[in-house]
Amino acid sequence: MSSYHDETAYDPAGMEGHVLDWANQPSPFKFYKKIAPLPMPEPRPTTAGFWEAALAWPPPAAGPALADSADLAGLLQLAAGLTKRSGPQGLRAWASAGALHPCELYLAACDVDGAPQGLCHFDPASGGLHLLWPGRLATHIGRALAGPPARLGFFISAIHWRSLWKYRQRAYRYCLLDAGHLLANLELACAAHGLAPRTILGFPDTAAGVMAGVADRDEAIMAIVQAGPPPADPGPEQPGLPPLDLAAKPLGAVIGRDRRVLAAHAHGELFVAQPEPDWPEPEPGEHDQPLPPPTPPGEPSLWAVVHARRSRRNFVHAGLERRALATLLAAALPARGPMTARLLLAPGRDLAMGVYDYLPDRRALRPVVPGVDSRAALAQACLGQGWIGRAALTLCLWADLEKLERDFGPRAYRRAMIAAGRAGQRLYLAATALGLGCCGVGAFYDERAARAAALPPGGRLLYALACGPVKGWPGAPSAD
Ligand SMILES: Cc1cc2nc3c(=O)[nH]c(=O)nc-3n(C[C@H](O)[C@H](O)[C@H](O)COP(=O)(O)O)c2cc1C
Repeated sequence: MSSYHDETAYDPAGMEGHVLDWANQPSPFKFYKKIAPLPMPEPRPTTAGFWEAALAWPPPAAGPALADSADLAGLLQLAAGLTKRSGPQGLRAWASAGALHPCELYLAACDVDGAPQGLCHFDPASGGLHLLWPGRLATHIGRALAGPPARLGFFISAIHWRSLWKYRQRAYRYCLLDAGHLLANLELACAAHGLAPRTILGFPDTAAGVMAGVADRDEAIMAIVQAGPPPADPGPEQPGLPPLDLAAKPLGAVIGRDRRVLAAHAHGELFVAQPEPDWPEPEPGEHDQPLPPPTPPGEPSLWAVVHARRSRRNFVHAGLERRALATLLAAALPARGPMTARLLLAPGRDLAMGVYDYLPDRRALRPVVPGVDSRAALAQACLGQGWIGRAALTLCLWADLEKLERDFGPRAYRRAMIAAGRAGQRLYLAATALGLGCCGVGAFYDERAARAAALPPGGRLLYALACGPVKGWPGAPSAD
């Protein structure tokens, strides 16, 4: 799918101005015409530790299993809730390009005391649930995904127009990256509630859309997570169709579409479930430098870390220590995946400046361009966002998209972009837990940024994140 990525590359010579139509900004909240949200109890904060969940892949079940609707409200708050009520839209648990929050979260819960049973849509504005399809749906969902039923099933969608309104044809990139950010939170939140998450990115699109009640072109399912063991009574194989009218209120007076976004999504469509690919393992290199084991300084709760996370850009000229770098990267990246992590490092006390690849399976650095400081060049390539040049670490997530598609098929682009977003959210959270700042960067002149990060021919930058010490932030949340 390099064609969509290439078609939507920013080029300094060809940038047209785009005036935002503030009068028709799409609503960041989804409401239904005929269904009111059912209130949920005050979320009960989990005490599960952040690092315990973040340093293992996939995050293992930690803490007592989710018991009731207050726990479920806590889980939803961690995944996709409002973590700060400021302004008309509030601030959310997941970082989002332009704060446009294109993603929605749906869930089918079985046997959660006090919570509606059936498929629900989470309303972050009220913390309540829209009940869309009452009943026991675990067998039906498991069957459609070619897997076993689970106690909780989640669907992450993206409404393209929220992002298109600002980013036009580039919006699909942000919808996928944002979905990855939300996915990271959701997986960690499930683990913290004692339910091991199983993430499914190779689902059949139509079946998933019908199950979540989003069977139109404007909203698309991006990721599915099942969590917990099969319930005692998982329900029938064919529960019929939702009995309720699922029509949503329009997001605004104007709803736009873009043919490139629709084509890019359709290109990755699947009709039958596809298992997770066996991602390649990089060959060992002569000059690989092992990093020390990750050693977090304390164990703040996931709850505290998610609530303290924000995009912080006021980086100061200071480097990272090897142990902090090892801890950040171990939390951000699984052993294998569809993209490669390239680092631009400032000099630190025990770290040499330069461009490196990170090898997550061996937890080692591979020098690419040692001794060179490319951060200012990258900052210029990121539409002149100067603060990137002061960050101790810039994580550049990239892939050879043509090769990826040749080897793993058309769904690989979605997988790579979602994996990049997931790594991004985890880097944000790990940075927060270490008292560092972090900010995602989706706006870059693609070719210039690839050059600044010394990507090989065919390499495309998917997403970058700047991270490091910042001014005026009180530091890591304390251990509970
Ligand atoms: C995919 C993605 C791309 C982003 N790109 C940029 C960027 O280029 N420049 C920037 O200043 N912030 C960028 N951000 C940060 C968002 O502006 C920020 O997440 C949003 O305003 C919400 O604020 P919060 O992260 O504090 O919740 C990006 C975030 C994401 C998730």
